[in-house]
Amino acid sequence: MTPQRLAKYVASMHGDHIRRTIGVVMELSQSNVVAYLLGRREISSERVLIQVLADGVSSVVIKVLDADGGEPVGTDMRTPGQLKRGVPDTRMRAGRCLVLKQPREFLTVGTRWRVDTDRIWLERDALMALAPLMPANTLPQVMWEDRENRILAISPAPAEYKNLQTLLLAGKTLRWPVTAAARWLAHMHRTTARTATPATFAECRLFRQQRITPYLQYPQTAHPSVARHLEALGNFLLSDPVCLIHGGYSPENILIAADAVDDRGIFIVDFEVVFRGQPLFDIVTLISHLLLNGFYFAPQWRPFMLLADEAWHAYQQAASPPLLATNQAWGGTLLGGLLLARVDGQSPMGFLTDETKQQAVRQCALELLQSGGSLDDAMDTVGERLGA
Ligand SMILES: Nc1ncnc2c1ncn2[C@@H]1O[C@H](COP(=O)(O)OP(=O)(O)OP(=O)(O)O)[C@@H](O)[C@H]1O
Ligand SMILES: [Mg+2]
Repeated sequence: MTPQRLAKYVASMHGDHIRRTIGVVMELSQSNVVAYLLGRREISSERVLIQVLADGVSSVVIKVLDADGGEPVGTDMRTPGQLKRGVPDTRMRAGRCLVLKQPREFLTVGTRWRVDTDRIWLERDALMALAPLMPANTLPQVMWEDRENRILAISPAPAEYKNLQTLLLAGKTLRWPVTAAARWLAHMHRTTARTATPATFAECRLFRQQRITPYLQYPQTAHPSVARHLEALGNFLLSDPVCLIHGGYSPENILIAADAVDDRGIFIVDFEVVFRGQPLFDIVTLISHLLLNGFYFAPQWRPFMLLADEAWHAYQQAASPPLLATNQAWGGTLLGGLLLARVDGQSPMGFLTDETKQQAVRQCALELLQSGGSLDDAMDTVGERLGA
């Protein structure tokens, strides 16, 4: 039996004792999650609804609603297809809802990209460290963990929350969630800059595996002309443990309340790249994603540039001066590096498949890497290139 078939067989058995004997981690999936939770006595019956939120690019993320759990939650379990077809929302008004996350060792992108699966414990530790520092309902709570199978159970976002990237791709350029997300980011940076955090957050192994190598080292082969800039950028990002950074602060990891109009109504997920490092990384990540949406929607790019501008202003107003100190020297290079990463790195942007658009991002990114300067100058350059 091949190791894969053996793992499948073991997963189908759901027997803890069998897994322990031969040391195989059960791969969580839609088909075994109910038996898994029943086996752990985390649900009381098979009367549960399952929704797969992420299907294993880097993790498997599954939302489970236990209708007999007794707590009032109410969560919309319709699939995107059902939503499209206008299937009515028949959500149960009572039940217990949880989200299970299990990391994959090999990320299913075009190239071979391996990341240690103990990043799930980094995510757990980050959620626990940030819980007392962030307002209630802006982060998932840790519910329980299965060490052996590297599964983390966390609380779900409130029922009606929507993914910000999904809204952006639908052309909804909403100002408030973007500025609110920028302000919460500044809050997280400010509070952790003056708080001692566990030493694990300063270890660079997982940040290197998830960001430095795939984003900044991988593109060097194709672009030797900017290799030394990318190398220097990597050294800068590892140079100073200023505060806790999220590491993946993109609209995909920000959920928003559909009807909110102020800073409440933001829910931030996916803390597996948390690192004590350079705060500029997070705000430039957010801005780079807004601009990538602009490249995608070009020639209708202006609303996205406006959003990027608003995010940057909101962050600057809410951040303390030391958090902004590196902008003049690194803002432009960092924006260039992050844009290049999403076309020629190991994790290209899923929605940016059009080669002409990719080439526009690439050219702009290379120019920013060459010219350096502040983030403000770099955003001006992006606007000029998009408008040309
Ligand atoms: N606690 C939660 N409540 C509601 N939705 C969630 C929660 N956690 C994650 N999600 C949704 O699932 C998606 C994937 O989760 P997450 O970002 O944590 O995994 P990932 O590592 O990015 O997975 P992949 O790279 O495979 O997409 C998120 O973009 C978000 O829409
Ligand atoms: Mg994510």
